[in-house]
Amino acid sequence: MSETSTATTHLVEAKSATIAFGGLRAVDSVDLHIDAGEIVALIGPNGAGKTTFFNLLTGIYTPTEGEVLFDGRSVSGVKPHVIAARGISRTFQNIRLFKAMTSLENVMIGRHVRTKSGPFGATFRTPAFRREEAQIQADAERWLEFVGLSQFANEIASSLPYGAQRRLEIARALATEPKLICLDEPAAGMNNKESAELNQLIFRIRDELGITVLLIEHDMKVVMNLAERIYVLDFGKLIAQGTPGEIQANPAVIEAYLGKGADAIVRERAEAQAAAETDASRGSTPPNASANDDLLESDGIIMTPPNAQAKEDA
Ligand SMILES: Nc1ncnc2c1ncn2[C@@H]1O[C@H](COP(=O)(O)OP(=O)(O)OP(=O)(O)O)[C@@H](O)[C@H]1O
Ligand SMILES: [Mg+2]
Repeated sequence: MSETSTATTHLVEAKSATIAFGGLRAVDSVDLHIDAGEIVALIGPNGAGKTTFFNLLTGIYTPTEGEVLFDGRSVSGVKPHVIAARGISRTFQNIRLFKAMTSLENVMIGRHVRTKSGPFGATFRTPAFRREEAQIQADAERWLEFVGLSQFANEIASSLPYGAQRRLEIARALATEPKLICLDEPAAGMNNKESAELNQLIFRIRDELGITVLLIEHDMKVVMNLAERIYVLDFGKLIAQGTPGEIQANPAVIEAYLGKGADAIVRERAEAQAAAETDASRGSTPPNASANDDLLESDGIIMTPPNAQAKEDA
């Protein structure tokens, strides 16, 4: 039977979604769907195409074949800020915060996606503008409280511990009041306690706020605890889908992801975690600090990776 307009609309639907960079099909004929209210994980080895799929969904890239629908409408060729306004927000694999701004200001920026006062109001600080600013600040304080960062409201973002910076990014994403939040490796670099707290936070995002969650994560404990359904990518292709139990027992997944390279993956993660714990106890800069510095340095709102933008512009 062919699909008709009476079929239930998925919140996200990828139909043969493909993007090729030269000869490399980073995302290759992917069919998947996510329904409202689900927590879905996208997993796979390094370079499998997970972040690239997020970039297709959030408008940073346009599929070279196939399409991705959000809420029944194609996102192909739609600008990232328009997609954000339709209800998708995200966090980044490499944290992107405005490092010279406070936590509160970082969240207020997220909220500005939904403001009404234009440049006139801002320039002349009209009463309507000031009322809106006060509301934005109150909302931002509420989001900081939701993610457990109230005590850091007036701290400069770059001074926050690493795990707190990741939660701050989530607060900023929530401030746009999305229908769907896409989290790209939110547990990366976190210690066990932080990732357990993150688990709780993600459940609350879905259960208390009713926001659908799409999660990329290498930490299998986080994935298996949280996700109701899992999609597995390998070399751009979907190689498996199912419940956590089905995925753990799937031979193709074990081969591609947990099999051959498993020892190396486990060792890498343990080293990263040990480094993160040492850093946390010293109160020093997070892992990837230099990469973060580049991203944090910007004084404009950059919601797309600089390299992605360059490639898009090229
Ligand atoms: N703009 C681009 N131009 C060329 N190749 C790209 C581009 N973006 C991604 N790729 C390539 O596409 C493939 C998938 O990359 P992607 O970042 O999506 O992987 P990933 O699954 O997120 O991996 P990781 O777990 O390491 O983050 C990689 O081979 C990457 O080098
Ligand atoms: Mg990635």
